[in-house]
Amino acid sequence: MSAIQVTAKACANIALVKYWGKRDVRLNLPAAGSLSLTLAALVTETSVLFDPALEEDDLVLDGEAADASRITPFLNVIRGVAKIETHAWVISRNHFPTASGLASSASGFAALALAASHAAGLDPTPRELSILARIGSGSAARSIFGGFVRMHEGIRTDGNDAFAEPIDTPLVDKVRMVIAIVGGGAAKTHGSRDAMEHVAHTSPLYRGWLTTVPPDLAAAEAAIAAGDIQALGEVAEANALAMHASAIAARPPIIYWKPATLALLAAVRELREQGRAAWATMDAGPHVKVLTTVEDASAVANALRDAPGVTSTMISEPGGPAEITKQEPR
Ligand code: PMV
Repeated sequence: MSAIQVTAKACANIALVKYWGKRDVRLNLPAAGSLSLTLAALVTETSVLFDPALEEDDLVLDGEAADASRITPFLNVIRGVAKIETHAWVISRNHFPTASGLASSASGFAALALAASHAAGLDPTPRELSILARIGSGSAARSIFGGFVRMHEGIRTDGNDAFAEPIDTPLVDKVRMVIAIVGGGAAKTHGSRDAMEHVAHTSPLYRGWLTTVPPDLAAAEAAIAAGDIQALGEVAEANALAMHASAIAARPPIIYWKPATLALLAAVRELREQGRAAWATMDAGPHVKVLTTVEDASAVANALRDAPGVTSTMISEPGGPAEITKQEPR
């Protein structure tokens, strides 16, 4: 195999119906489906080169040497499929705050799956890439695709039916997401990987959470099919609160919210009372992401910027699918 350096980019995604709990930890098989919106403003770009001169994988993250042990098991999966043993140089850059609950693992593993598979001489289909990205991080399966995306939980033990698919809808051109960053994007305290296991094992509300997912997914899909952003926003906000309720009830509790998070939830409610389209969702961090319309995006961002504890806001359009941006023979 002649060496080829491949660069790929992928956008992060924010779940409107959350993935929170696994049926298989090793393969990252989700306990339930999920549904997300891919975001153009949150991009990871990753270059991969398999180099016979390397004795172990080498990772540079945002310009600094990083511990490659989180990606080596993932690269081993690709090496296994490609039937190679060569180690890789991986250079990855997040164009947003890393590990702060802004879903950098989703865009990170989606970009890595695409760049590394091609650098290893493979040419997977989008569905195969989604399955591969899922092994890196459950939410990464959704970042292979643009716009609204549905993740299937699957029933197989090999995970070959646990992949994401894009939902083709004109609604995608009408929505925006406003991201309100709380506390300057400081590193989060509980990574989602460990947190969802802890919740599944200790939270008395975990079972209740799981039973809310299928009806929420059905409602979200129906809302998207009907082009009804209000119905979609209402189910998204309720679903996020149910996920966080399960985490708060874990023993010991996992509380991702800061005072600013609650101030933002109140501000979002107030925006709605003023007739604006605004529905909140939160992930494994204190930030609040608000689903809104093209028309209301600036008003929503302006209102949230003034909430106490908010360090910045951004408006994102829906993003496109993961793509290769460069391929160079070495
Ligand atoms: O893919 P992970 O392991 O980073 O988990 C993502 C978990 C949430 O962001 C909280 C929810 C989701 O569906 O993205």
